[in-house]
Amino acid sequence: MNMPMTYPSTMEPAMTPADEPILDLRKLSKTFGEVQALDGVDLTVQPGEFVTVVGPSGCGKSTLFNIVSGLEEPDNGSVLRFEGQSVHAKHLLGRVSFMPQRDLLLAWRNVIDNAILPLEIEGANKAEARAEAQRMLPEFGLAGFADKYPHELSGGMRQRVALMRTFMFKRDLLLLDEPFGALDALTRTMMQRWLLEVWQKHKRTVLFITHDVDEAIFLGDKVLVMTARPGAIKLARTVDLPRPRSADLVTSPEFISLKRELLDAIEEESMKTFGPASH
Ligand SMILES: Nc1ncnc2c1ncn2[C@@H]1O[C@H](COP(=O)(O)OP(=O)(O)OP(=O)(O)O)[C@@H](O)[C@H]1O
Ligand SMILES: [Mg+2]
Repeated sequence: MNMPMTYPSTMEPAMTPADEPILDLRKLSKTFGEVQALDGVDLTVQPGEFVTVVGPSGCGKSTLFNIVSGLEEPDNGSVLRFEGQSVHAKHLLGRVSFMPQRDLLLAWRNVIDNAILPLEIEGANKAEARAEAQRMLPEFGLAGFADKYPHELSGGMRQRVALMRTFMFKRDLLLLDEPFGALDALTRTMMQRWLLEVWQKHKRTVLFITHDVDEAIFLGDKVLVMTARPGAIKLARTVDLPRPRSADLVTSPEFISLKRELLDAIEEESMKTFGPASH
């Protein structure tokens, strides 16, 4: 059996050649039986960029991530540009860090052993991986919780364990699929600020799915709006707001006018999925 190519866990993220996007998708499509999930997705992500993706439920956002992480194969054009090279989609397995929509913590593993799982699978030294996870706990707001099991954690803590696991798997490109979806507004706001700090410190490239337009603008260098299924990129907007992003940014005229434009685009697409409310 051919194993996907993996890197030693200690390796720094691979360098993408200058002037090359880290990820470049052209006319990507995906069909599941009768259902066409994606149709002609064009997407370019530059190294270090934070790109957020919004779109109606069921438009193919998670499918897009499953393809970029090598879990699903696109219909055609299955060769993508990744880190400056042409790569077959299935060979992307293990080359990006992926946090799926559900946190997928294992109930029988404690915080540390959940966090090191991908490293363990690729054969890293377990003691070293555990020591590294221990060191990272405070940064992820989990100090003192090393030995706890998922059922002993709050929803936000579980998501931070899943995030820590994603960050520990050191790949240049991080895919985060609604990582804060299950959180209340206040916790979510705190997690957003925290994520920006972690992102700036670790200098990674992020593709981030959310249903929340405020979140998409607050975090992103660029916001992409997807069409209703079959999903394609309807609109791409650069977020020209200064970093570090401060909380009061959300009331600035620039933020509000961008939000209006994005909401209109999303609403137009959502109507195709759900139709207008009947009352
Ligand atoms: N493995 C699969 N087998 C069959 N159909 C699938 C599979 N994965 C996704 N789909 C279908 O593809 C479409 C897109 O699903 P996907 O999960 O990508 O949507 P999404 O944009 O992430 O939605 P949400 O915002 O609700 O998470 C849906 O119609 C879904 O039923
Ligand atoms: Mg999804």
